[in-house]
Amino acid sequence: MPTSSITVRVPAKINLQLSVGPREKDGYHNLVSVFQAISIFDDVTVKRADVGNGITIAISGEQTHGVPADSSNLAVKAAQLVAKRFDISSDLHIEIKKSIPVAGGMAGGSADAAATLVALDALFHLELSREELHKLGSELGSDVPFMISGGTAVGQGRGDQLTAALSRGTYHWVLALSSVGLSTPAVYAECDRMRAELEIAPPQVSDALMQSLLAADAEAVGRALSNDLQSAACSLRPALSLVLEVGRDYGALGAIVSGSGPTVAFLVADEDAGLDLAVALTASGVVGSVARALGPVPGAKVDRKSTRLNSSHRCI
Ligand code: C5P
Repeated sequence: MPTSSITVRVPAKINLQLSVGPREKDGYHNLVSVFQAISIFDDVTVKRADVGNGITIAISGEQTHGVPADSSNLAVKAAQLVAKRFDISSDLHIEIKKSIPVAGGMAGGSADAAATLVALDALFHLELSREELHKLGSELGSDVPFMISGGTAVGQGRGDQLTAALSRGTYHWVLALSSVGLSTPAVYAECDRMRAELEIAPPQVSDALMQSLLAADAEAVGRALSNDLQSAACSLRPALSLVLEVGRDYGALGAIVSGSGPTVAFLVADEDAGLDLAVALTASGVVGSVARALGPVPGAKVDRKSTRLNSSHRCI
């Protein structure tokens, strides 16, 4: 009997707005996070595996350095959570083909966990609603629910309470990638340290950003980009300030550190402007590598072409 296997394609995210409230007693921060899913993808395949090996994982692709190939990987934790919650005893093998930068502020680990939840839902015919998948996702990490939904959305609470954002148009991004990641807890801790003496107001959704997204006004979106973690990421990685400056000097509509960094995202007017900026950034010598992407794109989705099912299984 052939092994059934499900492949899910999942995007990366950037934050168009990341407003961070004061540190709460549980160590987390109340956030307003406006997410956009962009066209850099990981492919996650989940298979029933030979009996006796438990849940195993293999990583391949362009971005593998620093990705744990053991039970500390969030995708394995996602599989363990589903197996426990739904009494699934099959052994499983997870294969992740990575293109999303690792520890880059683009939610690569959360994306793989989201894809694993969606794959297991299909593999075991759990027929979970979007809300049930989100709830499982939020037990794994604050960004996981958004990686299930994709598109453009506002995250509140820890960033996991989502509302869809009304957004029109397609946005062109140029991403300056670093070969060495930043630790998210370390960037939040640096943000707390830098704001220790300040009175921090509860975070609010930016009206300017929401109106620009609704109007598909890329120039106004560029002006409205904001990230409270940016100064902390630049404090831990001073070279990021120079990268931001180079992109602005070359005419980007907006420049922002994505999430906790170190990826820097530049919004540009169109494909030609993206190519020009990518060439200029590469020539400047201040960035490790450059990628281009479009947003918004959908969240984690079963890739029907790569998915194999037992004949006894119905099509999805
Ligand atoms: O939820 P997740 O595991 O992705 O969060 C990673 C880290 O980011 C947390 O350990 C915490 O340091 C920080 N964080 C936070 N407040 C949030 C979300 C994340 O302080 N709302």
